[in-house]
Amino acid sequence: MESKRFNVIDLFIVFLTVVLIGASIYLLVIFKQKDYSTSSSEPIDVDSIDTSVDSEESNFEGIKIKSEMSNDDNAPFAIQYPESDHTAFNDEVKKYIKDLKYDYLTEINLYKKIKDEFSSELNISFETFEHPNGLYSFVMKTDRTIGDLESSLKFKTFHLNHETGETPTIKDVLNGEQKNLNTLSALSEEALYADDVYSESLSGESILMHTDAVWDNFKYFALTNEGLQIYFAQYNLKDKTPIITLPYEEVNDILAEPYQSDGTVQNEQNGANPNESDQEDLGQVISNGKAKEGQKRVALTFDDGPDPKTTERVLHTLEKYDAKATFYMLGSRVEYYPEIAEKVKDAGHEIGNHSWNHPDLSKATHEKISSEIHDTASVIEEATGVKPASFRPPYGAFNEVVQQELDMPIALWDVDTLDWQHRNAQKMLEVIQEQIREDGSIILMHDIHPSTADGLDAVMQYLTDNGYTFVTVSEMMK
Ligand code: NI
Repeated sequence: MESKRFNVIDLFIVFLTVVLIGASIYLLVIFKQKDYSTSSSEPIDVDSIDTSVDSEESNFEGIKIKSEMSNDDNAPFAIQYPESDHTAFNDEVKKYIKDLKYDYLTEINLYKKIKDEFSSELNISFETFEHPNGLYSFVMKTDRTIGDLESSLKFKTFHLNHETGETPTIKDVLNGEQKNLNTLSALSEEALYADDVYSESLSGESILMHTDAVWDNFKYFALTNEGLQIYFAQYNLKDKTPIITLPYEEVNDILAEPYQSDGTVQNEQNGANPNESDQEDLGQVISNGKAKEGQKRVALTFDDGPDPKTTERVLHTLEKYDAKATFYMLGSRVEYYPEIAEKVKDAGHEIGNHSWNHPDLSKATHEKISSEIHDTASVIEEATGVKPASFRPPYGAFNEVVQQELDMPIALWDVDTLDWQHRNAQKMLEVIQEQIREDGSIILMHDIHPSTADGLDAVMQYLTDNGYTFVTVSEMMK
């Protein structure tokens, strides 16, 4: 009897303990969930945004260009990415895009709590490089602006052997050997120091840190026609991401065999010999037209396109004011969008050459200068049936070799709207109002930014109201 009673109490205590533990676990879980749900007020579903999706063939075998445009005014974006026949590669790219969209929408939701009305933009585009062995390097560029927050520019690279589906990393490209990485680190450090722009804007300490011989420092790379290109995207320097190109003759020794190259660039056949050149043969360079009595001409120029979305908007606005402009196109973009280049020409505008990949030609080898100019001229002629009328060097940077390679004038500008920097439609107009000449101004804009397309109408209205007539750069040069 006595022992039985004892058992009942025992059991009761065990029961009570179990209930208490259970209850506290339950409460803990509930609190945790609560915590989560308050920190991200509403769950974000990236796929719920209404988008227009498009897919087109590219000029690179086995690669399609996918584009996604948001139809949601509260979360505008324009995204382009490559798609191949290989699922693993495609999934990796899609995951990257999805994460970027998620971050963007999250930031917008947070910003909404501070401001009711603001504009935002997300542009993701990519560039393709093909190594002679068939390896594609895709350089994805993400450009993001939300309200007054500082805009950000991010790079990331993807790699694909489209025949095998392999996606090599920098470690694969360097044969996985630490001593090769050490050499790459030393070469990169040297190249950054040798670059006037980077060596000025980066401290010696930060160059050392970012070129330290760890794989992660070199994960963003491209194997181009010229060599191994490294993107130091970790710097987070907005438009100034340091990019270096190490020519194959310098890096062949550290590359795994399939990634070596003899560095020959396709077009060898142009006979220009710098030693024979006559100094007086160097072509015309202008940054504005000669002012003429009683005239009020302005030349509008749009660089870095064509772009499948914004170029068409620019064309539309120009048409509204019956204005002709000049478009300095990049060969790499014309290759992707020959039909947009054709539309520009069909609308009666002038087309100029703005190099293939937008390098600083004043620092490029003769071979590189030659291919940048002539490949672009060919692809423009192929797409539009006309030869580019003038050349605009990227960053306005050129030297005698550039001039010797050109059989057309160099056209710079005198009014720089800095539209690429501020991405602000209103500011573009203000810069023009401040800087335009009575006659002869050449205005620099970019037909790849939605903000430029947004602001163009006000610019055109202002110029028209003030009696300006619109001429092409060639007309301005006369
Ligand atoms: Ni440019």
